[in-house]
Amino acid sequence: MKLKELKIKNFRNYSEANLLLSPSINIFIGDNGVGKTNILEAIYVLSLTKSARYGTDTDLIKLGENNLSIEGIVDYDDYQKEYKINIDKFSKRVYRNNIQIKKISEYLSEFCITSFLPNDIEIIKGSPSLRRNTLNIEIGILYNQYLDYVNEYNRLLKMRNEYLKRLNLNGYSDSKYLDVINLKMIDLSVKIYKFRFNYLEEINNILPSIYKKLTGISNIKILYDCSLGIKEYDEELIKDTMLKKYKSNLYKEMLQGMTITGLHRDDLIFLVNNNDAKIYASQGQQRLIVIAYKIAELLVFKKIKKEYPILLLDDVFSEIDIKKRNNIVKYLKSDIQVIITTTDLEDIQEDLVKSAKIFKIKNGEIKIKGGAKCKKKK
Ligand SMILES: Nc1ncnc2c1ncn2[C@@H]1O[C@H](COP(=O)(O)OP(=O)(O)OP(=O)(O)O)[C@@H](O)[C@H]1O
Ligand SMILES: [Mg+2]
Repeated sequence: MKLKELKIKNFRNYSEANLLLSPSINIFIGDNGVGKTNILEAIYVLSLTKSARYGTDTDLIKLGENNLSIEGIVDYDDYQKEYKINIDKFSKRVYRNNIQIKKISEYLSEFCITSFLPNDIEIIKGSPSLRRNTLNIEIGILYNQYLDYVNEYNRLLKMRNEYLKRLNLNGYSDSKYLDVINLKMIDLSVKIYKFRFNYLEEINNILPSIYKKLTGISNIKILYDCSLGIKEYDEELIKDTMLKKYKSNLYKEMLQGMTITGLHRDDLIFLVNNNDAKIYASQGQQRLIVIAYKIAELLVFKKIKKEYPILLLDDVFSEIDIKKRNNIVKYLKSDIQVIITTTDLEDIQEDLVKSAKIFKIKNGEIKIKGGAKCKKKK
């Protein structure tokens, strides 16, 4: 899949921009604060219906305006599709070929991206919930039923927690309702764990060779830190452990009004040379681990979906030495559509620049280098 055309209106600092993208390398260059990341963010939002940055949907609307729209024409092998997202102060609407989408989980698995954004270093440094969200998105774009399972689990979790609070207030009496919720949550957990363990196995199969090509180190692994203490997927063990935990934790959970074990409490640990990268890796190393992880994500996607997602790279080459930059570039094959931002073309390998379509952002305008100016009202 290739994003052929992108049209944005009232998005962040853009009033209007219409862009024709190259099916291979695209580079957006400009000084700090001109709106480079905003272009990648628009593509991200069109693909995943939410931004990766902090803030709400309405923060995406250009200041002083009431609504935004992002439209994309995507080329597949022998057909095209048009995607559109409209956000105003009260609602968000998503369309495929002008028909409104009701079920977002189905939409997410169509026009897919893999992105490296500066905040992604938080995948290592940040909170467990951020790592769970990342994992959920990655698996969700591969298998749409996965997100349905996760959404249903979260709905039941909320109900369970509310019921636990009520039991604590009213005194423990009838457990039948809780038993029903428990069984449903166990059933969903088995399904979700299967996806998570399988996905991480795919990633762990290729991550060492990628990290070795980038850095020379091959001892890297992502550990699934399961709050149930389970090391690998085992249906019976998951069921058994969850039943036992629900039983033994009941009074504690009633007091706290929340479910203290389960997949909503799990985490990922990035191990390099058997050490936790969150604690031991330098800033540059953490960046490289995340880049290797993103390349692994891209390759797993290709293996499963038989095509590459669109790759968004925000200022990926800064803070990385030249040798390692060149090693990253080796993964940017000609059949991957890549959209890169930079403040300085010198940060990007010459061969890549030569084969790229280059967009210059200056004084609120996007111009194609050596070509015509893109339409953009001030
Ligand atoms: N809702 C909004 N309305 C108008 N302008 C906005 C809005 N949100 C952000 N901006 C502006 O967008 C600009 C930032 O754009 P962006 O993050 O894309 O910059 P950048 O080119 O990536 O910069 P850097 O090189 O520092 O990463 C800022 O000038 C900011 O004030
Ligand atoms: Mg930026």
